[in-house]
Amino acid sequence: MPRSADVAALIQAAGTRDFYVFKAIAEAMIARERTRDQEDAARTMELAVERYLSDSTTPSLRLPSEIGAFVWLEQPRLGLSELFLDPGLLLKIRWFVRERTQISKLREAGLPLRNRILLAGPPGNGKTSLAGALAKELDLPLIVLKSQTIVDSYIGRTARLLEMVFEFVRRNDCLFFMDELDSLGAKRQGGGGGQQEYNNILNSLLVNLDRLPDTTIVVGATNRLGALDPALTRRFNLDLHMGNPSATDIRKYILAYQAKNEMPFGIPLDHVVPRLEGKPWSKVAEYCQDRHRELILGSD
Ligand SMILES: Nc1ncnc2c1ncn2[C@@H]1O[C@H](COP(=O)(O)OP(=O)(O)OP(=O)(O)O)[C@@H](O)[C@H]1O
Ligand SMILES: [Mg+2]
Repeated sequence: MPRSADVAALIQAAGTRDFYVFKAIAEAMIARERTRDQEDAARTMELAVERYLSDSTTPSLRLPSEIGAFVWLEQPRLGLSELFLDPGLLLKIRWFVRERTQISKLREAGLPLRNRILLAGPPGNGKTSLAGALAKELDLPLIVLKSQTIVDSYIGRTARLLEMVFEFVRRNDCLFFMDELDSLGAKRQGGGGGQQEYNNILNSLLVNLDRLPDTTIVVGATNRLGALDPALTRRFNLDLHMGNPSATDIRKYILAYQAKNEMPFGIPLDHVVPRLEGKPWSKVAEYCQDRHRELILGSD
């Protein structure tokens, strides 16, 4: 019988659609059944897992285990229409989507395809959400790289591991989201020792970005645009700034939230908006959810 802790972890991974974790747990459980000579049980589980994964994910995408600690396949939560984006930004994104859905026209005209987007702006303004929404819109699997983790945990091996990650995304049509890009691509500096390692990482990143086919879309995100090496920023062909919402946007968002949920907040917007001005979108979304929760649960 499988251990109850494994079953619980498996259910949780399935519930959150964390396919990488799901697969890792399932494989460990199957291997355990085999070591106990329970071949029938192992095979039954194997078939169930295969069926579940092929129903839920793109079948060809299986991440190599060496990169599994800092790269994973993620299921986007929000669609493009659920994000509040200022009209200028939305127009650029819509154009990008249009280009990607009419590739053959551009190819016939001999025009290069844009496939590298750089998202910059303070925390909580939708960089991660937009990368996910784009993947959803283009119907591409979303592969997420946690740059800080690869640098922190694999110092000395980062450039090599990065090469493996690129090898994977080169072979698979996907949207490759490089979060916390500044931890991999900070400005080059002189000096030896640790600095040399960072310079190697940056060089590896630049070479790999150059070798990427235009069928793979890369979205880089950073809270510290000024820290990026200019050679890296130059590699991106669509730069989008995602800033804090204006008072007008906050007002629109709160009104739309109330309408969508048929839940009047009963608080004058003139009291609320100034308190949220200057804060990121995540705080505005949080405010609406808090108020919604209070109204659902009552005051006591
Ligand atoms: N433009 C937006 N419209 C609506 N909601 C948004 C928007 N931006 C952010 N949010 C809300 O804020 C939450 C956090 O956003 P997200 O994680 O995408 O920000 P981020 O820019 O990636 O932040 P960080 O730099 O900390 O990684 C989202 O889950 C969403 O609820
Ligand atoms: Mg983010």
